[in-house]
Amino acid sequence: MCGIIGVVCQEESRRIAEITVNALKRLEYRGYDSVGVASVSSRGIEVRKAKGKVDDVVRIKRIPELTGFLMIGHTRWATHGPPSDKNAHPHTDCKGEVAVVHNGTIKNYRELREELESLGHKFVSETDTEVIPHLIEEFMKRGMDSFSAFKAAIRALHGSYAVLAIVKGERKIYFAKKDNPLVIGLGNGMNFVASDIPAFLDETDRVIVLKDGELGYVTPEEVHVETLEGNVVDVTKRTIVVTWKSESVTKGGYPHFMLKEIHESPVAVEDTINGMLSDMETLTEAVKALAEARRVIVVASGTSYHAGLYFHELLLSEGYNSLPIIASEYYTVKANPSDVVLAISQSGETLDVVQAVKSFKTKGAKVISLTNVIGSALARESDVALYMRAGPEIGVAATKTFVSQLASLALLFSELTGSFKEEIKKIRSILERTIETYEGISKEWGEELAKKSNAYYLGRGLGLPLAMEGALKIKEVAYVHAEAYPAGESKHGPIALVSPGFPVFFINVDKSDLLLNNHAEMKARGAETFAISSNVALGADHEIVLGLSDFLSTFAVAPIIQLVSYYAAVTRGYDPDKPRNLAKTVTVE
Ligand code: M6R
Repeated sequence: MCGIIGVVCQEESRRIAEITVNALKRLEYRGYDSVGVASVSSRGIEVRKAKGKVDDVVRIKRIPELTGFLMIGHTRWATHGPPSDKNAHPHTDCKGEVAVVHNGTIKNYRELREELESLGHKFVSETDTEVIPHLIEEFMKRGMDSFSAFKAAIRALHGSYAVLAIVKGERKIYFAKKDNPLVIGLGNGMNFVASDIPAFLDETDRVIVLKDGELGYVTPEEVHVETLEGNVVDVTKRTIVVTWKSESVTKGGYPHFMLKEIHESPVAVEDTINGMLSDMETLTEAVKALAEARRVIVVASGTSYHAGLYFHELLLSEGYNSLPIIASEYYTVKANPSDVVLAISQSGETLDVVQAVKSFKTKGAKVISLTNVIGSALARESDVALYMRAGPEIGVAATKTFVSQLASLALLFSELTGSFKEEIKKIRSILERTIETYEGISKEWGEELAKKSNAYYLGRGLGLPLAMEGALKIKEVAYVHAEAYPAGESKHGPIALVSPGFPVFFINVDKSDLLLNNHAEMKARGAETFAISSNVALGADHEIVLGLSDFLSTFAVAPIIQLVSYYAAVTRGYDPDKPRNLAKTVTVE
């Protein structure tokens, strides 16, 4: 949550504002409650910020007109204090000579604020972040140089943070990282620090991923990193060249990232499968761990949890002992050294998942992670780090990464059990054909669902995780209230809500014989039924019969439910890339 960017240049110019605004647009998916920047120029520090979306704030506050030799910027997902102009970052000290942007949560901010107020510091916002510039100011007042003051301020914080700080007159951006992502970009005559790589991908592909407990500063020519304890770290060997293309973080002619990313699923899946097969050593290590596990604990949140449930269903079908757990409920499970934890997270930064994994590790369980971001917190916490290669996903709703998760997990299962070897090779072409053939129908279904207030999504076996994902997606982007149930369970209560015209969506890719009865029960109450069926038609009012095996059908279902949700959102006039109240990466409890 919250996106941060810092850019430092040799020359004082407007280019700094251009780069920062571009980065803020790329970071907006991390939070869109407010936006702000602070520049340092020969005139001092200038802050421009307001509640609202990037395009609006940039225009109203005339951010492109700012000049300077460095700039920091922030897009906010509110935690402490509601979205407002005064709670927008950057926050400054009493004299406006220090400015700070922050992603994370400072747990001891109340104590720090009281202490600082007793020393005469004046606060203007309700945020936890504002203690940081005042701490820096306080330490500088006591005679420390700015870097020492920054380090002392960071040491005083309890909680999670990716922080950037700037000081009047200095051509340096100070940074610190703990439990929230921060990466450095190495440019020519300029350097960058940001929450994630897409922010500066137009300027450079040379990146250093910072680790927890590291802090330092960037100048146009230098990157200095040390640990919280003060040991200097040589990061030159940690420079990686990313293969993501700058075009992958633009809309490329599509009206929304969500639609573009659904269309990118076939390539994302192919890259993912080829990438995993090209690192056979890691894949084999993961398979060996799963084969030896007494129990597999599958842990994830949101869409990734649904991918985890899909893997759980596959494991159950071969008699493995598997326990799926929503990450934020990890404390209900007593893990032990004979357990293997499979942690799934697109971002690799979701705090609930990282916390669950840390806890399971203390009980001696081995951890396999599956993420889309190289060097993410989760990957670093795990014994075996598997990576998808879906490319950056900017839309807040997970789409291509969900399909890539299903494909990676199917591959893992295939390596474990020897099943589906030939079918896995067909996933890319199935996805291409599905999108081409069924986008029109998905649009019609989305337009129909846009008229409704509620919906049920029902499935059995492998179809249930997809039903759950269908319901989540339409809630997230179209704000249609939807619930998913095992189809057989629907008669034990949910059916009470069904009256003529109530939409019920069937994911008919497993146990079709049983779903026929559940469909008949809903039709008998006048439901308007929609079905995506592998082979056996249910006779729904609206039905796609894929003519595929149950296994391959699960892959075809994913883009269809995503397209239905996308078109429902657009029909209702919502921006599916920025669903209200949501952030792409959730790094709070
Ligand atoms: O980065 P992660 O996969 O760990 O994210 C987990 C969830 O926050 C995420 O899937 C969320 O549910 C998305 N909004 C789904 O579209």
